Amino acid sequence: MLVLGIETSCDETSAAVVENKILVRSNIVLTQTKLHEPFGGIVPEIASRKQMEFIAPVVQQALSDAGISWQDLDAIAVTNRPGLIGSLLVGVSFAKAAALAHNLPLIPINHLEGHVFSVFLRDAETGEPQRWDLPFLCLLVSGGHTELVWVKDVGDYEVLGRTRDDAAGEAFDKVARALGLGFPGGPVIDKASENGDPNAIAFPRADLTPSLDFSFAGLKTAVIRYLKGMEERLKRKSNPTTADIAASFQEAVVDMLLSNLEQAAEKIGAERVAVVGGVAANRRLRQKLLELAKRREWKLALPPLKWCTDNAAMVACSASFRLEKGLAQTDLFFDAYAVAEIGDIKTG
Ligand code: KG4
Ligand code: ZN
Repeated sequence: MLVLGIETSCDETSAAVVENKILVRSNIVLTQTKLHEPFGGIVPEIASRKQMEFIAPVVQQALSDAGISWQDLDAIAVTNRPGLIGSLLVGVSFAKAAALAHNLPLIPINHLEGHVFSVFLRDAETGEPQRWDLPFLCLLVSGGHTELVWVKDVGDYEVLGRTRDDAAGEAFDKVARALGLGFPGGPVIDKASENGDPNAIAFPRADLTPSLDFSFAGLKTAVIRYLKGMEERLKRKSNPTTADIAASFQEAVVDMLLSNLEQAAEKIGAERVAVVGGVAANRRLRQKLLELAKRREWKLALPPLKWCTDNAAMVACSASFRLEKGLAQTDLFFDAYAVAEIGDIKTG
């Protein structure tokens, strides 16, 4: 089974060919980061216009890298929710046109479900067999979402906890801006923290127990307030470096994420635990997670960086699992939605 995935929910234009549910034959990701950098964040108007420019060549490249043509495909999958609406519409419209032109079934996919299924992906060249299985507990941490999802089966999800304010990635982005480190915040804070002391400043960790929800707004405000008091501190010659502040902030985020993950795993008795989404690329999170998984004897899925951040392979993978289970919606009448939950039943 060969499925073409198309992902245009934000500022990445991505297309991928996935074979037999999990083997990535090609995965092209064209990122617009440089174009949005001068603005300190993603400009939706620019993002959708660039999606329009890039979508056709990116899809062509994905097919050619996989060494196949349209006739070889069994289906097309496209992210239709959630995301920037203008960006989503480019992928959805392109996918509908391609499905019609080549007489292929088209499957709308929830971007969050895509991230969850990234744990199954394998490089086609290595031909590795499937090493992961359902059910599992999944911490989904991206720029727009932070949630703990109990993945019981394909399409059967229970959200055990979610952020009540900012997403973890959003907090990284906002704090990086406050620190003058640039955009996107996650990678620059990750890098800056290398030379910092994670225990330099005891930033607050929100604890909402017994709920498994998250909150990052208080931490973000604490960092900003700390920066405002910097002049005074410099006078007193107590001056932590930007690296110390970044590392201390990062440590607080990681601690909060892992504390709730551990509690959730305990609550449902999870043996298999996965962490996915852009923030799963964070090196400190990965390091502390590996330690925690070892201590708790979890089977851990932590996708390589290329499959943590937005990509179309995860979209094709999730669609393939749906196809196998007879859960794929394949008409051409679906819409795109800016807001959606992982377990929604809007479409697909
Ligand atoms: O999953 P993703 O690529 O897009 C969304 O669906 O949002 O996640 C993007 C987010 C951004 O907020 C970015 O700052 C964050 O992931 N991110 C990181 C790292 N790399 C990307 N956060 C922390 N550390 C990183 N190394
Ligand atoms: Zn994403």
